[in-house]
Amino acid sequence: ATNDSSNDKRVLLLKPRGFCAGVVRAIDIVKIALETFGAPIYVRKEIVHNRFVVNELAEKGAIFVDDIDQVPEGMRVIYSAHGVSPAVREHSKERKLKVIDATCPLVTKVHVEAIKFAKQGYSLVLVGHRDHDEIEGTMGEAPDVTQVVSNVEEVQALQVPDPNRVAYLTQTTLSLDEARDIIQALKEKFPNIAGPHSQDICYATENRQTAVKNVAHNADLVLVVGSQNSSNSNRLVEVSKNLGTNGYLIENSTAIDPAWLEGISTVAVTAGASAPEVLVEDVVAYLKERGYGSVEEVEVMPENVRFGLPPEIVQAIQAAP
Ligand code: F3S
Repeated sequence: ATNDSSNDKRVLLLKPRGFCAGVVRAIDIVKIALETFGAPIYVRKEIVHNRFVVNELAEKGAIFVDDIDQVPEGMRVIYSAHGVSPAVREHSKERKLKVIDATCPLVTKVHVEAIKFAKQGYSLVLVGHRDHDEIEGTMGEAPDVTQVVSNVEEVQALQVPDPNRVAYLTQTTLSLDEARDIIQALKEKFPNIAGPHSQDICYATENRQTAVKNVAHNADLVLVVGSQNSSNSNRLVEVSKNLGTNGYLIENSTAIDPAWLEGISTVAVTAGASAPEVLVEDVVAYLKERGYGSVEEVEVMPENVRFGLPPEIVQAIQAAP
């Protein structure tokens, strides 16, 4: 009998993976808005950072724009899950837009903290990635007193009017390990710094990273399904690499280079919070075709979070015939 080595090739499918409650809610909002109000509905920025999701909604009649200026006066606009600054809200008002807010409640929570600290006269340090939509929105709550830091070196270079009146907040989709180091550096530099209880990293970001941490040592390769501009997805690849297991961020199965699989027995598959399950299924099917015969789901922890819809949408559903 021949010894078929493909018998040892397996897939570990991590759980929790994929859509978080904020993404489910944001996509539902766009779909319900299209059904109840009809197309076109404008969406400021990508509703969630996933190309497949955005293309699917665009086919249904959503029009994605980068700026409120691109929405004709009086039309309906949806704000993305990443949130917006007060300047964007003001701008929408000037253009008499009908606004539906799909900002994730966990992002709104950070905005509320920013407003609170700024009112109390704190200098704000926002730990996050400068060019991310979420940071642009949170920063906008108190732009004159807020500084963004992305690493420990930037913490060291910080200058504030009163070192005893500093507060920090974080982006919701950071790497837990990196955030911990940056917060530690902030506490060393400003011993009286105020902040949230632990940090503002959301449950979905934390759970997906924990799942990778638990399984990475059992895998030869980690594939993360997600778009290149998805912050939490990029962090999952980093978490795996930091543990010594190579990883790649892939849009779908077509992004897999067959060379990555040479000599690889166990592939762990997960997905960022904005990546739909159909793309995970596509990746698993690809691996099965290449001899990864056994697919085992590894549930690292349960996850049952759901968020309610915003009042604009609830009212629209009730008013619908
Ligand atoms: Fe919200 Fe976290 Fe998802 S902030 S949109 S639950 S990744």
